[in-house]
Amino acid sequence: MNIRIVKDYRIISEMAARHVYDRIRQKGKVTLGLATGDTPLGLYRELLRLHQEHPLNVSRLTTFNLDEYVGEAADSPYSYRYYMNQQLFLPLGIPLAQTHVPNGMAADTNAECERYEARMKEVGGIDLQVLGVGRNGHIGFNEPGTSFDSRTHKVELSSSTREANAKHFGSLENVPHHAITMGITSILRAKEILLLASGKGKAQAMVHLLEGEVTNEWPVTVLKQHANVTVLMDTEAASLL
Ligand code: GLP
Repeated sequence: MNIRIVKDYRIISEMAARHVYDRIRQKGKVTLGLATGDTPLGLYRELLRLHQEHPLNVSRLTTFNLDEYVGEAADSPYSYRYYMNQQLFLPLGIPLAQTHVPNGMAADTNAECERYEARMKEVGGIDLQVLGVGRNGHIGFNEPGTSFDSRTHKVELSSSTREANAKHFGSLENVPHHAITMGITSILRAKEILLLASGKGKAQAMVHLLEGEVTNEWPVTVLKQHANVTVLMDTEAASLL
């Protein structure tokens, strides 16, 4: 793992955006895995700034998001599809047909999970996966205890994850109980992974990642088994190391 500890969130965002920007420029045809949550917002903002200065050709860019809440429609401001459209896809001018987010409204969730996995395979897999991390070490919505053999699947969200995300929903009762997420195997299949961690809330997860054993009680630790991971964290996330 390539570990970079930097001063603050602004630097994480700038470095992450440059990393993603360079990959899109170098490769032309590229498939990105994308994350939601607060952490990647700075990356997306900065990527759009770089794109304004020197426009990227997005005609051969394909994206797959990690996860989506079950029961939130694409036009719900709480859905990750809505978040991605607003924060990145529409301002970047990427045709939405080239972007993929699990369908949280699918009548048959299992069929939707299979369709999502099949689509990732069909395009040749993910070149670069951007990841955040939950306070409990979850990646995507793979909560502690998730099998490392998991592919895209439906999950029940832990109470700590629902509490952490309640601020986006106004109140805890409005936070969905279930989500669809890429599994650990789906994430590890990416050729390259860029993990972002900012703030004290992520410090414990960083201790497990850098100093602990690989265990599914801290899903993020599975990244030690991947050959091409860059971790960008700020001094607060690194404060317990
Ligand atoms: C959510 C998302 C994750 C994200 C995590 C951390 O649960 N499903 O993909 O990494 O939260 O979010 P934040 O960046 O807001 O701390």
